[in-house]
Amino acid sequence: MKTLANFHFHDMQPALDDFRTAVIAGLSEQRKCLSPKFFYDERGSQLFDAITEVPEYYPTRTEIALLHRYKDEMAEMLGRDGLLIELGSGSDVKIRVLLDALLPRAYAPIDISRAHLHMSAGAIANDHPKLAVHAVCADYSKPFALPDFDTAWHRAAFFPGSSIGNFDPPQAREFLGRVASLLGPDGRLLIGVDLKKNPTCLHAAYNDRQGITAEFNLNLLTRINRELGGDFEIGAFHHDARYNAELGRVEMHIVATSSQRVRIDGNHYEFLAGESIHTENSYKFSVEEFQALAAQSGLCSLQVWQDDAAQFSVHCLGVNNQ
Ligand code: AVI
Repeated sequence: MKTLANFHFHDMQPALDDFRTAVIAGLSEQRKCLSPKFFYDERGSQLFDAITEVPEYYPTRTEIALLHRYKDEMAEMLGRDGLLIELGSGSDVKIRVLLDALLPRAYAPIDISRAHLHMSAGAIANDHPKLAVHAVCADYSKPFALPDFDTAWHRAAFFPGSSIGNFDPPQAREFLGRVASLLGPDGRLLIGVDLKKNPTCLHAAYNDRQGITAEFNLNLLTRINRELGGDFEIGAFHHDARYNAELGRVEMHIVATSSQRVRIDGNHYEFLAGESIHTENSYKFSVEEFQALAAQSGLCSLQVWQDDAAQFSVHCLGVNNQ
């Protein structure tokens, strides 16, 4: 890509050791688990993009339709001409809708997936030559610093896709609290939140017929094999996603089809037939449940938009100033 004067890349990507340490710790638990943030290597990011296009996965297209429908109201509430931070810049379709309505001075997308971030942020810089684009490659689930921006600029953040649902409630509160401090007084957060609904619809969304979600989940084993020298036999595991109504979340697992022993970097891990690695939770909320969670993190509800079928919601939250 040609060099662009308005494009800056700040690389704070976590070391490979983070992944190694998390895999060793997660597979040593009595109930094996891994964080969903490790899904997003290059292949995982491509597979996630493909998920957003399968007919059963309603969140992406519903949120995009909401953004198109209410973009002017949203821009009005967020405040124009300031700094727009995007947490987890996945595909650039959503942010392009918002950027055109919001016209910020600077745009700072933050994402863990380096190649993906570089490509999508670079393309935005190319298409908006007057916009300063500061891409930050970082793990937003942990504290991170932003490049120095003019402190007089009004700050707004965009956290789409209901990625907030991939945190457990205490982590979600901690994360929202950090976003509130990053935004500062009068800051605004526009956040996509998936709504509670019929479990059959949820089951279909996380078990698509083309098997892309299954491939996305199992890609985690391929990543361990490639990056950490593991010897997972991918065909000896299968994808499983189920809605846990009591906890209000879809749980994804990678299940061993037979008993087996896996070696990673000199360590051995035993699997019984049917034993799983818990790879993701995707919490679903009512509007009120989400507003209560946000309030516990110092963010008050200013506006909520949802589609006619009440599948998905987008909230505008404000930082409490007291
Ligand atoms: C990124 N995140 C909000 C997605 C979700 O729906 O929880 C990840 C995903 N997992 C399976 N399908 C999509």
